[in-house]
Amino acid sequence: MAVVGLLVGFSSHASPAIPMAGDDAHLGVATCAGSNCHGAVKPYDNSTVDQNEYFTWERHDRHARAYQTLQSAQSKRIANNLGLRNAAEAEVCLNCHTDNVPASKRGARFLLSDGVGCEACHGGSERWLGPHVSGITTHADNLALGLYPTEDPAARAKLCLGCHQGDAAHPMTHDIMGAGHPPLVFELDTFTNIQPAHFTVDADYKERKLLPSGTTNWAVGQVEAAVAFLSLVESQAGASKGMFPELYPFDCNACHHDMDNLRWAPNVSDEPGQIRLRDAHLRNAANAIAVRDAGLAQRWLEALATLNTSAQLGTGQLQSAARNFRTRLAQPAMDAVGKRWSIAESRRLFAQIASQQAAADGMGYTLAEQGAMALSILASDSNPAEQAAIASAIEALYGTVDNRAAFVPADYTAAVRELSTAVQAQ
Ligand code: HEC
Ligand code: HEC
Ligand code: HEC
Ligand code: HEC
Repeated sequence: MAVVGLLVGFSSHASPAIPMAGDDAHLGVATCAGSNCHGAVKPYDNSTVDQNEYFTWERHDRHARAYQTLQSAQSKRIANNLGLRNAAEAEVCLNCHTDNVPASKRGARFLLSDGVGCEACHGGSERWLGPHVSGITTHADNLALGLYPTEDPAARAKLCLGCHQGDAAHPMTHDIMGAGHPPLVFELDTFTNIQPAHFTVDADYKERKLLPSGTTNWAVGQVEAAVAFLSLVESQAGASKGMFPELYPFDCNACHHDMDNLRWAPNVSDEPGQIRLRDAHLRNAANAIAVRDAGLAQRWLEALATLNTSAQLGTGQLQSAARNFRTRLAQPAMDAVGKRWSIAESRRLFAQIASQQAAADGMGYTLAEQGAMALSILASDSNPAEQAAIASAIEALYGTVDNRAAFVPADYTAAVRELSTAVQAQ
């Protein structure tokens, strides 16, 4: 399998619909949770999969509580601020906090109160449940019957981003943020690692599945996030109403920051006072592409400059710049970053991003938060044998972004320089 990944890249699946948009019925978590299936109390010894996935999800994974969150005091306040009667009945909340498929696609044991259940990620099991229980089908057979390829980093990124960045099917808006919703942040490798794992990466897992490095996950995740962001801009700019555009695609800290701590600098936006887009994923994607194809990265950066200029002109201009950017460059960019990343490439990418960020003046929080995740992954992959030596520099870097309100750009750039020194010393 690893060899296949090396040759054809990871994005080799014909892009399947994300689970909530697929045609198959969702039969419900209870269907998966039998004690001989995925509801064993402890991991099975003689099975390729753990079989206790249900308990890991139910006890440790926040997705299992996503629906209950809609009944919390915080959700009541958000709903109230938005004029919604009940968050737990509002489509706009259910879209991300549950497996909100249409009623016609809900099986007999399906419960909305299961939150983000197995089939929200693994796909409606209508066609694959029977054959996969029989034990005679292969993983490839199951995929052909509608199991979602969660092991493929590009497909996984699309899946997670739908809810963790928002898309046309799961819209997030500045109104919802203003009503008190926490900010959405996403980076594929980091979030894959902090979701309590209900799978064990052992010898047979490695044989059955692709196992991309942190850098591969990072690069694929950034390009997918950038492309999904362009689609979001297209759909939201199109839907804008009144005097102001939808503000969700703009950099939150372009407007929200302390007036006693003024920090505009020319590398933040083209002109002082301009409201810039929240373009951290687009900039990170440019860095990843540059290691593989300098000419393509150049075209990507030109399209990004046009996008930012268009955002100052009007919603129509912004929408068409986003569409133009996506249709011309999304596929070439995915092709460029989709193949496995070597240690030497991780080092080049680390050096490139670290030097940009160490030199940046007045950097916004969003870019720094994404930068900290990127640099820690790339630093670890640059020195697979020497992770302990750079761990404290990574911890110090995270320390500078753990509080949005207290963020000091100069402390962040100093920590980036220290991490660079630690990586170069290896
Ligand atoms: C259907 C929407 C949906 C999908 C798909 C989804 N998530 Fe989530 N995720 C949520 C929601 C909603 C929460 C918050 C749950 C809560 O606390 O109420 C969440 C929470 C999380 C958290 C906890 C965050 C924290 O701050 O501790 C992690 C980690 C996470 N998701 C990772 C992922 C990954 C990785 C994927 C893709 C494999 C993914 N999610 C796919 C909706 C989704
Ligand atoms: C685009 C998807 C999306 C939409 C729409 C959405 N949420 Fe969320 N929500 C999330 C994700 C993802 C998280 C987890 C964020 C994280 O920790 O990284 C979350 C977190 C939360 C939290 C904090 C949970 C905790 O334990 O800290 C609350 C409360 C919440 N959402 C309520 C709502 C309400 C109420 C609505 C409807 C008005 C709503 N959400 C709409 C995706 C969404
Ligand atoms: C938020 C998304 C998400 C949810 C919810 C989720 N999974 Fe997963 N699951 C993943 C990801 C990501 C992987 C790792 C990639 C892979 O092996 O496909 C995975 C892997 C697995 C595996 C493969 C293990 C192996 O060794 O091949 C099984 C089995 C599984 N999940 C079952 C479940 C069950 C049962 C539930 C519900 C109780 C569930 N998952 C809920 C995302 C999710
Ligand atoms: C173009 C400027 C602009 C951008 C960009 C912007 N906001 Fe706002 N935001 C505002 C304004 C104006 C208000 C209303 C101010 C008030 O009520 O005090 C507001 C209100 C809010 C509020 C409620 C007010 C408060 O003090 O609690 C929150 C939360 C919020 N925005 C979050 C965000 C997030 C998250 C982002 C990025 C996704 C963002 N904003 C992007 C201008 C902006």
